[in-house]
Amino acid sequence: MEDIIIVDNNLKPEDFIRLRLEAGFMETPMEQAEKALANGLFTASALCGDKIVGMGRLIGDGAMYWYIQDVAVMPEYQGRGIGKAIVTRLISYAEANSLPGSKASIGLIAAKGKEPFYEKMGFTKHPHDISGAGMTRKFIAPGNEPKPNGLGLGNGR
Ligand SMILES: CC(C)(COP(=O)(O)OP(=O)(O)OC[C@H]1O[C@@H](n2cnc3c(N)ncnc32)[C@H](O)[C@@H]1OP(=O)(O)O)[C@@H](O)C(=O)NCCC(=O)NCCS
Repeated sequence: MEDIIIVDNNLKPEDFIRLRLEAGFMETPMEQAEKALANGLFTASALCGDKIVGMGRLIGDGAMYWYIQDVAVMPEYQGRGIGKAIVTRLISYAEANSLPGSKASIGLIAAKGKEPFYEKMGFTKHPHDISGAGMTRKFIAPGNEPKPNGLGLGNGR
């Protein structure tokens, strides 16, 4: 097995689309992937030789609220500490790039059954004593759909 290294801000839209599909997430059209990555704050990728085998990214305001999205490791590379290394890098980036001494938080919505993976890195499940459930609202933007890549559909995450 070749060494795995974690690389900053090296995630290309084609790898983002491929890894999302391999992780069972929904297919993202190229145009949407490009815009999403351009508007994000930071990405961490796991590189094995010249292949990206895992990824995660930070979105948010970069000061008070950081959000983790799209953590995914190729199935054949799972269970080797790569996901943990990616999330650890995302956390260290958020800590190092928040205002010194400020209070900030990193949020995420865990995929079903993946809560223990994040709990091991200090994330707390909602709802709890002082907070209700996390919530999302999905929508389809008006206008014509972006062009599909024709790769597959994934599971809707
Ligand atoms: C979730 C995911 C990123 C984990 O990546 P990974 O590289 O397999 O995880 P790691 O090997 O780094 O595991 C780190 C620790 O979490 C634990 N862990 C990983 N997945 C777990 C799970 N589903 N339940 C409980 N513990 C889990 C590991 O046992 C390990 O524990 P340790 O530090 O005590 O040894 C990976 O399984 C994945 O890509 N899944 C499909 C996509 C997905 O669901 N992403 C999450 C979106 S929120």
